[in-house]
Amino acid sequence: MATTAEYGLGPLAYPRGWFMIAIADDVTTAPQPVHFFGKEMALYRGKGSGRPILLDAFCPHMRVHMARNTTSYVVKDGNQVEGDSLRCPAHGWRYNAQGACDDIPYSNHGIPKAACVTSYTVVEKAGCIWMWHDMEGGEPDFDLPAFAEWDRENVGWVRWKPDHLGTLPIHPQEILDNMADVAHFVPVHGSLGNVYFENTYEDHIMRQRFGAGHRTLVDTAALLETDTWYTGPGILLSRMSGKHPSVMMICNTPVRDGEVRVWFAVMSQTADNHQPTREEQAIARAYHEAGLAAFAQDFELWQYKEAAITVLQIPDDGPFHKGRIWYRQFYNPRDKAREIQQRVNGSHVTLRGKGEVREVA
Ligand SMILES: [Fe+2]
Repeated sequence: MATTAEYGLGPLAYPRGWFMIAIADDVTTAPQPVHFFGKEMALYRGKGSGRPILLDAFCPHMRVHMARNTTSYVVKDGNQVEGDSLRCPAHGWRYNAQGACDDIPYSNHGIPKAACVTSYTVVEKAGCIWMWHDMEGGEPDFDLPAFAEWDRENVGWVRWKPDHLGTLPIHPQEILDNMADVAHFVPVHGSLGNVYFENTYEDHIMRQRFGAGHRTLVDTAALLETDTWYTGPGILLSRMSGKHPSVMMICNTPVRDGEVRVWFAVMSQTADNHQPTREEQAIARAYHEAGLAAFAQDFELWQYKEAAITVLQIPDDGPFHKGRIWYRQFYNPRDKAREIQQRVNGSHVTLRGKGEVREVA
């Protein structure tokens, strides 16, 4: 386990961006504790609006945790969440969705100005709860992916059911490195003869295009092709060619500096122009399982590795160094991000077609 500072990523311990923090179905009107970016927070669904709300967990009155209580009558009576507001289990102070205290039930001396908690930007989309995180407190400067397939059930797409894979004792840098890691596909994932491998860097998007044979997933001599991209530091999507088109998602969210939580999901189009039948949904589940098995091969390496503060890179490796520079934009103040983007924007070809000369910058 190594920290942001040890990797030299920038002055901000935690990255700026959109991050998955929960599976949407798991979020109810009962507040639950969530811990990300070194912070303890309370996540719940407003009774008024039905939308997810994320507040700092500790009531500023006496620093009581508002989402780890089962015995207070505030909780037992079932009224801890009122409309979109949350009451502290200790003295009943109530905070609205913006984090401002709007009721102290035993006082008529007004509400102190300091009686407020931070409320974070959260969005529910594609079955997930997303948080915008920015240590500088700024508004989002890029959008979440569209997740368009989520709304295409009528043309045969089966929605994903994300798997929560738990926490890894590594800095997310080690996961991001995978985007440049052309040389692990044959030994780890069973690729046969990598054919092409290219990375592009475009502002907050990092992309990988990869084509190779595969031991089990495609016929002999056929090419398995993937187009994989990060939207910011926390959300990977990958489109894969194959019998059925599919989109895989891998989300990483820092828990504390040097520890990361990971989710995995797959959507696939297993029917033609109609709502998928039960059997066609089962094919989609099998795609999920196959993708998960491939991801587990990476996961096991991450679980037990040491931190690669620097990579002992050889010319045939992919552009780890470039990917790491790209990643720095999220650990630096916003006004520095542009300069970092401009340093890496463009393409890097590690492998172009079979038998051709490998280009290495
Ligand atoms: Fe991998």
